[in-house]
Formats: sequence, structure tokens, C-alpha cells
Amino acid sequence: MQLKIALLGGDGIGPEVLAQSVKCLKAIEETFNHRFELVEAPFGAIAISGSGKPLPNKTLELCKASDAILLGAIGSLEYDNNPEAKVRPEQGLLRIRKELGLFASIRPIKMFPAFLGNSPLKRNIVENTDMVIFRELTGGIYFGQKTLSEDGTTASDLCTYSEGEISRITHLAFKSAKKRRKKLTLVDKANVLETSRLWRKTVTEISKSYPDVEFECLFIDNAAVQMMLNPRQFDVVLTDNMFGDILSDQGSVILGSVGLLPSASAGIDNAMFEPFHGSYPQAKGKNIANPVASILSTAMLLQHFNLNEEANAIVAAVHKSFVKKVVTADVLGSSKYGTDYVGDFISENIVESDENQSI
Ligand code: IPM
Ligand code: MN
Repeated sequence: MQLKIALLGGDGIGPEVLAQSVKCLKAIEETFNHRFELVEAPFGAIAISGSGKPLPNKTLELCKASDAILLGAIGSLEYDNNPEAKVRPEQGLLRIRKELGLFASIRPIKMFPAFLGNSPLKRNIVENTDMVIFRELTGGIYFGQKTLSEDGTTASDLCTYSEGEISRITHLAFKSAKKRRKKLTLVDKANVLETSRLWRKTVTEISKSYPDVEFECLFIDNAAVQMMLNPRQFDVVLTDNMFGDILSDQGSVILGSVGLLPSASAGIDNAMFEPFHGSYPQAKGKNIANPVASILSTAMLLQHFNLNEEANAIVAAVHKSFVKKVVTADVLGSSKYGTDYVGDFISENIVESDENQSI
């Protein structure tokens, strides 16, 4: 297969972890005889310092013309410490999501047996956790009208959802549940918010066309608690943009390191793959960042194109690195392995195999 992939390294540790994914893509090309055209472009704070824009037009054009996008991370201390800055790296991320119609963020949270001791939660709670969060990504409060009164003392962010925006991600989530453990949990705040009531009505209606999937609803406050008390009860979790942002970071605690979690942001014609984690500017250039989230995001990219054996080969190599304890220090405090070494180990262990691995 021939694929054109845009590489947006971004800021902080982004380019370092992305470089490890590139090693894996090269190994996949060779092992499975594919051809990947990889094109780099500036994005995030680094793009602001180059062109004044977090998402330069050329970068956006490249993304539109590519089959998929692999993103490292964006954000820098300069902007984190100055929330008032008018031009910000995050705007680039929101714009790319909107322009490419990436309405579904798919965030799997799966416990690996090798890491049971690594979670801050008790082993019997996190054991066998295997859920996927479907977060709506291009609507809601993130994209509603924002106002600030002239005297600067009153502000508002409008949260809007349409039935169409809700139903397109709902169908994706139910289809995923059908292939998994056949349970879908809608997380909302339907006891207070009108948008949540629309979510509940729309999703409940759609659930009738998926009779083999168990459907339940939870309020966000209760869902947050349940996720820490008994994460195993969740299979597919469907929620809006804001709740999904918070819930997915919270869920990452289960694994003990956010450096392990991949994500896919999908639309009809485009898809972008990126780690859960941010740009971790404090670690930039130190060769300590965990490349696994980026590498598993690459496996999700391959899955997106039905290259399932290829995705399996990456996941199997990642599992091997866990078993052999070739991991970075965020996962195992005593580890002396760096980003590069872990990336080399995983990419060199990519081989054809019949094992079925899931992310
Ligand atoms: C995420 C991030 C982004 C979000 C930020 C960087 C705008 O936290 O992808 O979860 O809030 O969507
Ligand atoms: Mn987030």
C-alpha cells in the first residue's frame, strides 16, 4: 500500500517521540513491502515563532493532501505561563480538527499485565481494564461563541450541539462496541444541561438500532468516580468534547503513565493520530520521553487503513519491550533506557507474526 503521511512534530518532546514512530514506519515498509511518503511540516509554538501562525496555510494544505497525519505534541511554557496570549499553539490544534472535520477522538485505555504494579491505583481495581473513550471533537463548548464584557469582568463560552453532530459519532461508537464487549456508556450531565438532554435523547434513539449492545447513561460526576473505583465496568464510553477531555486524562491515571496512551482523531476523509500526552517542555532534548504513546498511535494509523497485521506487529513489539523492561523511567523508575533506545528496540523487533494483539 502507498500512503502519504504528514508528520507534525510540534513542540517540546513532540519531534523526539515522533522520530521513534518514523523508525517503526520504516520497519513496517520493509517488512511488509509498503511505501510511505513522509512529509514534515511546522505546527504549534514552533510554527508561531517561524510564521506567526500555529497552523501555517502550507501545513494545512499538506494535511488536506495527505492520507493521514501523525502529530507529536504542541504547547510550550511561554504560552502555558501566559494564558492571555492572543495567538496560541492550541488554536492550531483546534483549527486542524475543525478544518479536517475530525469529529471523533478515539482514546483507548488498556491495562498491560506488565504494568500492573505501576498504577497508583490498587492492582485488583485496574487489572484487565480495557475501555475506549469516544470524545466528540469538533463541537460543544470548545467551539461556541466566546465573549468578554468590555470591562473584563464577565465572560461566556457557548455550548451548542446539533443532532447531526451527536449522531455521527454515536454510530461510530456503537459500531466499535459491537466489535468489542458490546456495552456503551453515554456520559453527560442531563440533569442540568440542555445539550446533554439532546445527547441523551439522540443516543437513546440510536441505541435501538444496536439491540445487541447494552446501553447505559451516567452523569459525568458519577462517571469520574466510577472510572477510579471500577474501570473494568467500561467498554465504550461516549461523551462530548469537554467531558471527554477531562475523562480521558483522568483515565490515563489507571496505567500509571500518560506516556503509554495513543489516540486517533477521525473524520470522514481525514484522520490524525497523536499521543494523549502534551509536549512536556521540561523534558525536551533530554532523551527521557516515553515514545510508546506515539508508536501505538502509529499502530492506530495502520489499523485505520485496515493494515491489521502491520498494526499487530507494532503492538507485539511494544509488548516485547514491556516484558523485557526496555521502557523509559516514567514506567519503571529504575530504568536507564532513553527515548531513542526504546524506539530502536521496538522498531528492530517489528516482525511478521500471526498473534492477534489489540491496542
Ligand atoms: C487534548 C488536549 C487539547 C484539548 C488541548 C491541547 C487544546 O488537552 O487533546 O486532550 O483540550 O482538546
Ligand atoms: Mn486533554
